[in-house]
Amino acid sequence: MTKKIVILPGDGIGPEIIEEAVKLLKALASEGLDLELEYGLIGGAAYDETGTPLPDETVAMSLTADAILLGAVGGYKWESLDISVRPEKGLLGIRSKLNLFANLRPAILYPQLADASSLKAEVVSGLDLMIVRELTGGIYFGQPRGIRILDNGEKEGFNTLVYKESEITRIGKVAFDIAQKRQGRLCSVDKANVLESTELWRETMETVAESYSDVELSHMYVDNAAMQLVRAPKQFDVMVTTNMFGDILSDCASMLTGSIGMLPSASLDEGGKGMYEPIHGSAPDIAGQNVANPLATILSVAMMLRYTLNEPTLADRVEAAVSKVLDQGLRTADIYSDGMTKVGTSEMGAAVIAAL
Ligand code: IPM
Ligand code: MG
Repeated sequence: MTKKIVILPGDGIGPEIIEEAVKLLKALASEGLDLELEYGLIGGAAYDETGTPLPDETVAMSLTADAILLGAVGGYKWESLDISVRPEKGLLGIRSKLNLFANLRPAILYPQLADASSLKAEVVSGLDLMIVRELTGGIYFGQPRGIRILDNGEKEGFNTLVYKESEITRIGKVAFDIAQKRQGRLCSVDKANVLESTELWRETMETVAESYSDVELSHMYVDNAAMQLVRAPKQFDVMVTTNMFGDILSDCASMLTGSIGMLPSASLDEGGKGMYEPIHGSAPDIAGQNVANPLATILSVAMMLRYTLNEPTLADRVEAAVSKVLDQGLRTADIYSDGMTKVGTSEMGAAVIAAL
């Protein structure tokens, strides 16, 4: 059956990295993978054309898609807009409208890039960590929120951190399922010593654990988790955490691997439908220069093949092709080191397809 993939290039380097991923999808299609690609607008690009960062048409086509591939959103150009129409709202909106509550962010160190990490090679070599971030709840979406004027005329900004048991349970199950297929260790990250919402998070994770006797659950406060991630990251197998803590910890984890330009992500709903995107942003400072690293987007395609399209063999091939181009010494600027061959976005993309 034909699988419909919606392509949302977005802003900044989004279009150029997506182009390389689309070439890869087309190469796989020419080998027999039955795909139909449809393009949509999101972020600043959508705002410029339609006045909103998330047009109804984009939501409609994404709702009927099997999977979505997203580049990145945001840029200086739109920073002064009202928060309600900023590019980031498009991303948050689509996550929420499609119920993509489970965000998987792997941090894997390619041995070829051990020197690109700012940490000592022995601390990071062999790193293979999965962060499971809750994506449609918590303080990102909690009500009430806003900026109000107090009686004394002073402004006050406020947001609400809320989690229902059901939201914690469903993200917990995703994380336990993943841990079961890996080394069987899950660390739940919270701030249960201060925040009631995450006290409930901790309790609920304990309840979910009762159905997973083969997974070892531990708990860690987020401040300690941030420290442990840079002190001894290999102690972790799978981490599960709230929306905002996951946002922060996943950026931190990405640097262990040398470059945020290498890391893919998947955002899944309850049925396995997913949106796939690199975890880096739109990097407007280097947009349009053919220097961005397309590998995180290409690896996002591998995640799509694995988690939504049920093509684990093709996923393995894409990941092996990425490893092979690294073996060949090809590096974009973000992962370049002496003695390697510096290549641009399109050369890197072509090399991966050649290595397939
Ligand atoms: C991410 C990004 C987004 C987030 C922004 C762009 C809204 O930082 O995907 O990690 O905070 O979730
Ligand atoms: Mg982030």
